Amino acid sequence: AGEVGEAAEPGGPTVIAHRGAAAYGPENTLAAIDNAADLGFSWVENDVQRTKDGELVVIHDDSLARTTNVEDVFPGRAPWKVKDFTAAEIARLDAGSWFSPVYAGTRVPTLRQYMRRVEHNHEKLLLEIKNPDLYPGIERDTLKLLGNEGWLDPGHLGRLVVQSFSTDSVLAVHELKPAVTTAYLGKPGAGQLPRYARFADLINPSYGSLTRGYVSAVHAFEGPHGRRLGVFAWTVDDVDSARKVAGYGVDGIITNKPDVVRSATGAD
Ligand code: G3P
Ligand code: CA
Repeated sequence: AGEVGEAAEPGGPTVIAHRGAAAYGPENTLAAIDNAADLGFSWVENDVQRTKDGELVVIHDDSLARTTNVEDVFPGRAPWKVKDFTAAEIARLDAGSWFSPVYAGTRVPTLRQYMRRVEHNHEKLLLEIKNPDLYPGIERDTLKLLGNEGWLDPGHLGRLVVQSFSTDSVLAVHELKPAVTTAYLGKPGAGQLPRYARFADLINPSYGSLTRGYVSAVHAFEGPHGRRLGVFAWTVDDVDSARKVAGYGVDGIITNKPDVVRSATGAD
């Protein structure tokens, strides 16, 4: 398949392992991205938020309750918001047992730990800035860490896309580091696409809302780096839906079951 933002090639759309490969391991953990690598996938998606003491961590919900044992470890701290716990406190939590006892002891990774494992695994990262309204300045913090880890070096930028549901957050990332490939999570109306094409390289809608016509409308624009504006669809876990959106010409498919999508579409 083509690189991000380029035309889909005969090999089919790029497949991105959602939250790691979340059907096969505890989401947003190092174990999950190891699974994705073992399955032969190079792109992984994650969610980034910030602790009380300013550490960036990889977790989807704004609360620790669903994916860790925080209610047992800190019973008096409801509603267990990520922003109300320090990094040291979060490091004590088990983020694997809820998924399976096989993963007992798996931790909520810091973004730094996560980036290093992505690097070690030779993977590429679709990084989502999650709930940015809760974390003022998280775009700057994230870019600083990425820079410190070498991910903003010119030779490395092709392995990174930063996305958000927040238009302001995508715009902030683009303005702070214009070289970074960015994606907007959502489906702006056709009349809004010229605006988004100024700061987003990709438009990533929920697959249920997608039509062939919308994909074509997005493809008619050039993004901020002079490449055709791209489309990644999420979160596609069944054969029929994968074939359908691949038939619409999407550039990427974000999935909890990358192996299913690959076998359905011939994508890589
Ligand atoms: O990458 C797309 C997808 O992750 C957006 O939804 O809630 O799973 O972060 P969510
Ligand atoms: Ca996400």
